[in-house]
Amino acid sequence: MISVELRRKRWQQIEADAVVLFVPEEQVPILGQDTSTHVPALQTALETGDITGKAKSTVLLYTDKALRAPRALVVGLGAEAKLNAETVRRASAVAAKRAATAKLRHIAIPVPQHSVGSLSAEEFLQAAIEGAVLSQYRFGKYITAPRDNGLLERLTICAANTAEQQRFRSVVEYTRILCEGVFLTRDLANAPPNEIYPETLAERARETGNQAGFNVRILNKAQIERLGMGGLLGVNRGSTRPPVFIVMEYWGTRRTQPPIVLIGKGITFDTGGISLKPAANMSEMKADMHGAASVIGALSVVARLRLPLNVVGLVPATENMPGGSAMVPGDILRFLNGKTAEIENTDAEGRLILADALVYAERYKPQAVIDLATLTGACVVALGNVVSGLFGNHRELLERIKQAGERTYERVWELPLYEEYEELIRSDVADVKNSGGRNAGAITAALFLKHFVGDYPWAHLDIAGTAIAPKETDYMPKGGTGIGVRLLVELLRTWTPIPLE
Ligand code: BES
Ligand code: MN
Ligand code: ZN
Repeated sequence: MISVELRRKRWQQIEADAVVLFVPEEQVPILGQDTSTHVPALQTALETGDITGKAKSTVLLYTDKALRAPRALVVGLGAEAKLNAETVRRASAVAAKRAATAKLRHIAIPVPQHSVGSLSAEEFLQAAIEGAVLSQYRFGKYITAPRDNGLLERLTICAANTAEQQRFRSVVEYTRILCEGVFLTRDLANAPPNEIYPETLAERARETGNQAGFNVRILNKAQIERLGMGGLLGVNRGSTRPPVFIVMEYWGTRRTQPPIVLIGKGITFDTGGISLKPAANMSEMKADMHGAASVIGALSVVARLRLPLNVVGLVPATENMPGGSAMVPGDILRFLNGKTAEIENTDAEGRLILADALVYAERYKPQAVIDLATLTGACVVALGNVVSGLFGNHRELLERIKQAGERTYERVWELPLYEEYEELIRSDVADVKNSGGRNAGAITAALFLKHFVGDYPWAHLDIAGTAIAPKETDYMPKGGTGIGVRLLVELLRTWTPIPLE
């Protein structure tokens, strides 16, 4: 990842390829400093109208020789009245990309001297770092010959004095750790399925736990059989690679305090199984473990921040393959809690592995359980790539997730779990059927999960549309987006015990 450092140095003295200056439409450079004396072209550019302050517009200027940075990169924020953290993230991302395109390697951002619109200086800085850093991601480990422009290597945040340095240190530290979590999640999601399969995913979880400070236990196939996780074993039957069930525990406070359990769908490749998917775009299904990747990424951040909470991550992981011994439509599986499901479609596999994890979660007597899953194409049909589907059984938990979604812009949209939909997944031969057909597909998938939810507050996030981006946008790459990490960390960072309902 691009290195992020906070230095006690006025931006006029920083040695960098460019200093980024944010300008709102009102055309007041927000530094609150006299930029005109050191960036004489700035005044001209404002007067000629070359700088508009229009959101995401950029102008690259040359500074006067007195400055150590030869360039000032002016980026617009739009109208100050409408400004929010997302505007800043996007503007900062565009600035960072503009600098990278100009083959620059090191940019500097001065800390804001005062609040900007409705944002405190800290909020502004966090958003600016997130936008710049998250835009500088590439899954490049398999590309042997360098292409196009390369990425920025350094981001320096300039604090003019010791007081400023003290004040912004924790924001810079926090945001760096957060972005590292997002990068880890993106890397895991983007890794090819011949690199990340259940056992290697578990290995990566173990390494992450060792580095970040959480415990990792990996249940192997024999242990999964002994427990009786019939959903995970059923999906695994067509695969030559064994399943794993990954248990990650971060104890940040007294062991007696019940944990929050995060569950991530860990299908390392989804062919659909015997109900085989069409060939077009099937490779995207290497990211069908994005939910798992999000949980690992979020836990790494929570542990590195030493949040005073207990958090458990559970990842059932397997491929979904159409082998000779694969489960077939008509099969009936028996889950960890003894309940049964008729297999209508082997491509509705995510809910089968999550069912066992939701039952397993009960043993923690959790405060809350949140699962993240690239669960249904139907959710993508309903909400596109803009917002994740949200479901659950506990009003306060859902509202908190919505608020964290607004703050991080990893937004969620609640869909109903009305009883009337149940008939779609009624089975004649088992407790429930694993597919309800095309209608209300995201809802019937969530309703299926609800059959396995214990006596705890529960929320389900269907991230099928938000985890895998069809194209690059400001600070999101094409492919694995890292969705869920910032959302979960924001939720947990502000966590207080939730009332019973
Ligand atoms: N992993 C897919 C869902 C998916 C689709 C994720 C597109 C990301 C992008 C899931 O396992 C699946 O195949 N769901 C089926 C369910 C159906 C058979 C009831 C679907 O959505 O078509
Ligand atoms: Mn599937
Ligand atoms: Zn799937």
